[in-house]
Amino acid sequence: MPAALIAGTLIYDLPGVTLEERSVDTPFGETLLYDIRGAESEIVFLPRHGLSHDTPPHKINYRANIKALEMLGVKRALAVNAVGSINQDVPPLDMVVLSDFLDFTSGREATFFDGGERGVKHVDMSEPYCPYLREHLLEAAPSYASTLHSRGVYVCTNGPRLESPAEIKMFAQLGGDVVGMTGLPEAVLAREANICYASVGFSINWAAGFQDTIEFTEDGEGLQRMKDDLLDLLLEVLVTTSDAECCHT
Ligand code: HPA
Repeated sequence: MPAALIAGTLIYDLPGVTLEERSVDTPFGETLLYDIRGAESEIVFLPRHGLSHDTPPHKINYRANIKALEMLGVKRALAVNAVGSINQDVPPLDMVVLSDFLDFTSGREATFFDGGERGVKHVDMSEPYCPYLREHLLEAAPSYASTLHSRGVYVCTNGPRLESPAEIKMFAQLGGDVVGMTGLPEAVLAREANICYASVGFSINWAAGFQDTIEFTEDGEGLQRMKDDLLDLLLEVLVTTSDAECCHT
């Protein structure tokens, strides 16, 4: 069975890797995915915004994306989420293995179990991200130069606007470490589809209120190194983990 790499902002393709497009028709719409050719094991690449980033976070068809993975038999998925830093100890260009989330999205189709024929089910989010995949990410991380924090609370806002300084202050008080717009409902839908899912946030800016205006990390050596480390780490973990050992919560 293939494993999946779900990517978003700033990661639209995989350098040096040949991708072969395939379309999957789901009950929620079509999703375009890419088979990674020549990988040591079967991996599909899913750019959640589309390859040219033409879908904003609140309009991503999260249900079609995760359903497509389920239909392909995917049991393990690693995701990346661009984030802003709320916690002073997690500066831009650091990465975080997400351990929990605060969901501030609204108006998104956020469940496969919305009643009627699809039934009603309340999935357990006591452990929001797969512990098996998280552990393997942390074990593999020391061989990469970029800093990877072992845990962090991800705040998901609806976007597409960025936050106000007061919102960021509130998120900090609630325990948020990083803020992004695309991690939910993806993580929840993966759980509903019995796909083991973990995500790494990579910070590209201080969140609102840290500076007069938000300054995104410019394309440059630092950003490139972080992106290279991140993709190599995720691909390594997808290749070295197995469906059989996964928890399939
Ligand atoms: N806020 C929300 N989403 C983001 C940010 C941010 O500061 N940076 C990257 N994605």
